[in-house]
Amino acid sequence: MSLITVSIIKADVGGFPGHGGMHPDIKSRAQEYLRDNGSVLSDFHVAHVGDDLDLILLHDKGEDNTGVHKLCWDTFLACTEVARELRLYGAGQDLLSDSFSGNIKGLGPGVAELCFTPRKSEPITAFLMDKTEPGAFNLPFFKMFADPFNTAGLVIDPAMHDGFSFEIWDVEEHRKVVLHSPEELYDIIALLGAKSRYVLKRVFPNGGPLPKDEAVAAISTDKLSQIAGKYVGKDDPVGLVRAQAGLPAMGEVLEAFAFPQIVSGWMRGSHNGPLMPVGWEDAVCTRFDGPPRVTAYAFQVTPESLGRAADPFRDIAFDNARRTANDITDYLRRHGPFEPHRLPLQDMEYTTLPQVLEGLSSRFVSLPEAAAKGGAKASHKATPRAEKGH
Ligand code: F6R
Ligand code: MG
Ligand code: MG
Repeated sequence: MSLITVSIIKADVGGFPGHGGMHPDIKSRAQEYLRDNGSVLSDFHVAHVGDDLDLILLHDKGEDNTGVHKLCWDTFLACTEVARELRLYGAGQDLLSDSFSGNIKGLGPGVAELCFTPRKSEPITAFLMDKTEPGAFNLPFFKMFADPFNTAGLVIDPAMHDGFSFEIWDVEEHRKVVLHSPEELYDIIALLGAKSRYVLKRVFPNGGPLPKDEAVAAISTDKLSQIAGKYVGKDDPVGLVRAQAGLPAMGEVLEAFAFPQIVSGWMRGSHNGPLMPVGWEDAVCTRFDGPPRVTAYAFQVTPESLGRAADPFRDIAFDNARRTANDITDYLRRHGPFEPHRLPLQDMEYTTLPQVLEGLSSRFVSLPEAAAKGGAKASHKATPRAEKGH
């Protein structure tokens, strides 16, 4: 049986209005462009969450395929033209390069791809997040593949009893490690718990019926700030998960999002807030440019087609998660610009806050204790307010 590939390639090419949502003309243009130019694809589905355009693709070209990536780049360019015509906000925001060079990675858009031998029946879910960062996938995917309190199959199903392996990337040092669950569970948590630095990239089965070298889950880990060297929007991530028969059941996959965990992102990529699971209709980030959202597109994929897309978070069973997320939103918002609603300073490095702090640097004087020890360099004479022009 030959391999098939499911890819999600996503970019923010302009928001409507502001950074909150998606203009329908952008999605129509993507649909039209892929239909007219997508001969490299077997099938596609155009989706969105908040201001992010998500191209969900089926093909047989494998990961990192130049033709597939170029098609998406060109689709984003075509959609950017529409965004410019409509004067949408941040037109072409995530397209950080002037030209395409072989692979879309590193150019701004986010990419998650799974290349695998298709089973007789292949349930697969695309999770799309807005106003947050790739580490937002750490907790739900950990729960899915390593926590028996989420995934009963880890205990009950012999096909899952050997557990799963986690490929984790250190996005600061640009290195990766593969750790095995359940043996190295605590080491996995040690890394994945630090979600702004260590991000889950892929999950592989340790045993059971599926090939061990074919990933069963993948996440985009592209950090826009590290590409551009400055804040250019959060790295709103996407993830793909296969389900059932030796893998977490669809219900176990979705259950992992019933807890609205606190993630970073939200307004100006500078705030902590709850990740709210929503149906497609509610995939818009309005209140304080948020709160962060996750929406899902679930498919029964065949080698020829993605088939019909389902909207699993529409289920009223996620209403309590949404209610909790709204309560957390009210509570956190009352902190205004104070931590822990605002991110800690080290996570504000790529925002505009350092420019504000830099403006204050000449106003600081050393504390008297430091001066007495001879450690102070700054002048201790306070400048009279009048001289400062107040
Ligand atoms: C967060 C996001 C928005 C913007 C905010 C300010 O990822 O995109 O919250 O940061 O709307 O946007 P500018 O600086 O473009 O006015
Ligand atoms: Mg935007
Ligand atoms: Mg976005």
